[in-house]
Amino acid sequence: MKLSRKIFLLSAVACGMMVAHDAAHAAHHAPGDPADEKARQVLAHMSPEDKMSLLFSVDGGGFNGSVAPPGGLGSAAYLRAPAGSGLPDLQISDAGLGIRNPAHIRKDGAAVSLPSGLSTASSWDMDMAREAGAMIGREAWQSGFNVLLGGGADLTRDPRGGRNFEYAGEDPLQTGRMVGSTIAGVQSQHVISTLKHYAMNDLETSRMTMSADIDPVAMRESDLLGFEIALETGHPGSVMCSYNRVNDLYACENPYLLNTTLKQDWHYPGFVMSDWGATHSSARAALAGLDQESAGDHADARPYFQALLAADVKAGRVPQSRIDDMAQRIVRSLFAQGLVDHPPRRAPLDVVTDTLVAQRDEEEGAVLLRNEGNVLPLSPTARIAVIGGHADVGVISGGGSSQVDPIGGEVVKGPGKKDWPGDPVYFPSSPLKAMRAEAPSAHITYDPGTNIAAAVRAARAADVAVVYATQFTFEGMDAPNMHLDGNADALIAAVAAANPRTVVVMETGDPVLMPWNSSVAGVLEAWFPGSGGGTAIARLLFGKVAPSGHLTMTFPQAESQLAHPDIAGVTANNVFEMQFHTDQELVYDEGSDVGYRWFDRNHLKPLYPFGYGLTYTTFATDELAAGYHHKQLTVTFNVRNTGTRPGVDVPQVYVGLPDGGARRLGGWQRVTLAPGESRQVSVQVDPRLLAHFDGRHDRWAIPSGRFRVWLGTSAVDDSQQVSVHLPARTLAP
Ligand code: BGC
Repeated sequence: MKLSRKIFLLSAVACGMMVAHDAAHAAHHAPGDPADEKARQVLAHMSPEDKMSLLFSVDGGGFNGSVAPPGGLGSAAYLRAPAGSGLPDLQISDAGLGIRNPAHIRKDGAAVSLPSGLSTASSWDMDMAREAGAMIGREAWQSGFNVLLGGGADLTRDPRGGRNFEYAGEDPLQTGRMVGSTIAGVQSQHVISTLKHYAMNDLETSRMTMSADIDPVAMRESDLLGFEIALETGHPGSVMCSYNRVNDLYACENPYLLNTTLKQDWHYPGFVMSDWGATHSSARAALAGLDQESAGDHADARPYFQALLAADVKAGRVPQSRIDDMAQRIVRSLFAQGLVDHPPRRAPLDVVTDTLVAQRDEEEGAVLLRNEGNVLPLSPTARIAVIGGHADVGVISGGGSSQVDPIGGEVVKGPGKKDWPGDPVYFPSSPLKAMRAEAPSAHITYDPGTNIAAAVRAARAADVAVVYATQFTFEGMDAPNMHLDGNADALIAAVAAANPRTVVVMETGDPVLMPWNSSVAGVLEAWFPGSGGGTAIARLLFGKVAPSGHLTMTFPQAESQLAHPDIAGVTANNVFEMQFHTDQELVYDEGSDVGYRWFDRNHLKPLYPFGYGLTYTTFATDELAAGYHHKQLTVTFNVRNTGTRPGVDVPQVYVGLPDGGARRLGGWQRVTLAPGESRQVSVQVDPRLLAHFDGRHDRWAIPSGRFRVWLGTSAVDDSQQVSVHLPARTLAP
């Protein structure tokens, strides 16, 4: 065992990791909670066998060719409610971006897809995230589903993470608020939303067994803080424990994660379900805090939460009170989220309205990274050469369980890759067609970009070249490197050499390296743009809407700047095999200094920093002040639109603790201003961002001293700074 690993495990014990399971179980039932009371009444009349049946869902179909079980609609999982209980069957569907149709099992299974989670997060707009969540919640309900398996709140510790696109980025406050808002939106539609993958499931390498090793204190201040804030913001009915191990113990049988932190410290009243294939035991998992085994007939080595768990109860290894608690948590969530009183009503999807939501989400989340000489917005009468990225037919999406079957079908025929997750899926929302519709007087040509010489000729004949470049990422495997797909880097460099007015539109799952950055005029990061993506991109390019997205992940200049320049054991040649590799350990010795905090701590200059994003107007801020009243740090300032177009600014407040360490995002505000308009803004800093987690006493502690406060356009903006003295204070966990 490595020394660092030993230290983590020892400090985990010191910080109460081995807390007795009983404490977590008894504590949560809030007296007077109507959902809790209703659940209690239902369960009072239920037999032990029926209670046990609530703890185990079955495969819903589509898994390695399986069919839907009787009663199931065809989805990730199904759970038949006990007869006569008055409870609804659970129709459990993926996922965070839209309603999935695994292996095209349902005939009418196409749905509207949001842009990637990174895109929604990059809007920094909690109202937009809520509306986006409500859209997929509504589609779930109209499709007959009452449990949705999203949102994902793992921190993106590495820009090569295969599932980063499903998550929100590298900051705990930003992630917690944005994902929590999406969850609240889903649940406004009487559908349970599932906060996942709890916890430290930040990479896909060796994903079923990898041990993420981290000092528990650092974990509380980073990844777990993101989950904690998401929980407070969204109140999800369920939490999904992840595949990986955390400090050696599988997440779904990890008492520190489930009992101590989630249920005891955070008072979580809902239930914990396992990820598909993440349950490894019966008594051990149940006693650690797992409440429901997912698709246990197919996904796990054995169906643990059936006869095996019943035998554990009989033998006294698991008290009946624990089974009662598991059932109580599940039924409580059904009442709390309205599943009992508002059962799904099947109806055709309102595709037009829902696609508009996805489009607006993309319009707010795309990030303008570069705009030299105001190459954007494009002139509506320009000669424009559109090149590459299948922009003539659609936009790319990320692969895996968040993949949605496109309405209108797939528009790019791939080579027919048999391995998971198959060929990339393109949604039929063509940026080229949308650009032509947006600017009918422009002369817009299209070249597929496969032959660089032909693309260069097209670029030369135009006023502006717009190159679409993709990076396909997916669940199950991390990206072997940070490059765009195929010949994109060479194509962009050649086109930019032929036409200095070159704009690159990137449709990527992650931050990428941009070796051609300084030779192009414009860059728009469009992420995975979703069902309304083509229209959104065209409207942004022509200035029908102004870009307002800001990065939630740092774009490094090179992989050598990362906390882990290599993902343990992964090379370009073995990245596929590494997902199945066992006994992998990843020691997160950067602790809580994730992303921009790592760059700050090590004085590294990124290519584009966290928080960064341009628009078509300019803003100025002044009158920065910070005050501490009623135990609350409040930062006020004035923001003014100094340009000639309306726009949205996202001023960010960062804080630095008196004892040093990297700066942390403390809050932000999204402000829409007309030209010349100004507004007084006030941002309250979440006290946990001013504190260290005190593992010995299991609480947050704000040190006394002078705190630095930056008002910035990004995490590296030092232009405006004040300081404020705070007294020492402790906060309950
Ligand atoms: C993924 C989950 C997903 C589940 C059900 C798992 O492989 O990790 O995110 O919800 O499958 O499809």
